[in-house]
Amino acid sequence: MLYGRAAECAVLDAALDDARRGRSRCLVLRGEPGVGKTALLAYAAGQAADLQVLKATGTPAEASLAFAGLHQLLRAELGRMGGLPDVQAAALATAFGLAAGAAPDRFLVGVAVLGLLSEAVADAPLLCVVDDAQWLDGESVDALAFAARRLEAESVAMLLATTDASGTLTNADLPVLTVVGLDRAGSDALLEARCARPPAPQVCASLWRLTSGSPLALLEVSAALTAPQLSGASFSTTPNWIQQDAMKSIITSFSPQETAVAVLDAAWLDPTPVTAAMAKATAGRSARIAAKHCQQVLAGIGFTTEHDLHRSLRRIWMLDQLFGSSAVLTKRLGQQLLASRELPPLLPL
Ligand SMILES: Nc1ncnc2c1ncn2[C@@H]1O[C@H](COP(=O)(O)OP(=O)(O)OP(=O)(O)O)[C@@H](O)[C@H]1O
Ligand SMILES: [Mg+2]
Repeated sequence: MLYGRAAECAVLDAALDDARRGRSRCLVLRGEPGVGKTALLAYAAGQAADLQVLKATGTPAEASLAFAGLHQLLRAELGRMGGLPDVQAAALATAFGLAAGAAPDRFLVGVAVLGLLSEAVADAPLLCVVDDAQWLDGESVDALAFAARRLEAESVAMLLATTDASGTLTNADLPVLTVVGLDRAGSDALLEARCARPPAPQVCASLWRLTSGSPLALLEVSAALTAPQLSGASFSTTPNWIQQDAMKSIITSFSPQETAVAVLDAAWLDPTPVTAAMAKATAGRSARIAAKHCQQVLAGIGFTTEHDLHRSLRRIWMLDQLFGSSAVLTKRLGQQLLASRELPPLLPL
């Protein structure tokens, strides 16, 4: 059950209706971890019983495997490749490892994806759902964005969810639906449905403010509050259990941060392109882990400018933006290492 998402659901419904009427639509759902992007994608898929639905989910494990995301999305449609012009079918076949050959031309793959989607709608309008797109490999993002920008009368609705505020997808010139926390009414409805007993009004108000309406944080809170806390009799704005969760998340972030600092030190002592790339990659990875762990819990204790970690996270995000996504950097680094066939000397970690 989705609470407080009438506006977002209306936007998704309209996109599906457009696809039914023969007008293609693409939407990038962008928002912080836990804000409810996957839940909105599930809502859209649930409304699309009369459409064909193709799904893919990005994962860090495949972020550097070229075309892995695209393969996941289109694998059920590969039988239609015969309908594509030979040159496009050949590019797609090479991309998906169905034919030997050099890395395919990205333009041709993009055109082929567009062609394949156009072929697929012969049966019924199509909904493409791509979750966690921040972890898709760059080649897949490029091809999907290329196709999405050109979709017109193909009856395709393409929905892509990402946490990334600065990645390739964000700069892909596609319409964005920014997903933020629930409004007060939505937050109250979720709390009332999920807490053991309806929380007192002042508790609802505090929890909404403290969690910024993040459904994930609200769910965690609703599962943890005791009866006296729910009644407001013993409710403190930063209860111990929230602090403990925050501490746990912060500690989980320390190890990648320490690694990043060690590699940065090494790059400082031995400033080759490879050590610099490694430093950037570990800094980016550390930033993402810290942001994920801290964001989810800190939303629960109120993310204020006075909070020390807020400043620290801003610095991390700044680093991430300056250095780009660590997935891309890691891939470039891998290519360099393969080309040079030797590892740079680094500090023992
Ligand atoms: N509007 C809502 N009403 C009730 N529960 C919700 C709502 N939105 C999300 N949830 C629940 O909150 C939790 C987090 O939501 P979800 O997984 O969709 O977030 P997300 O933005 O996809 O996070 P991530 O970026 O980490 O993947 C899930 O358990 C989901 O079912
Ligand atoms: Mg999600």
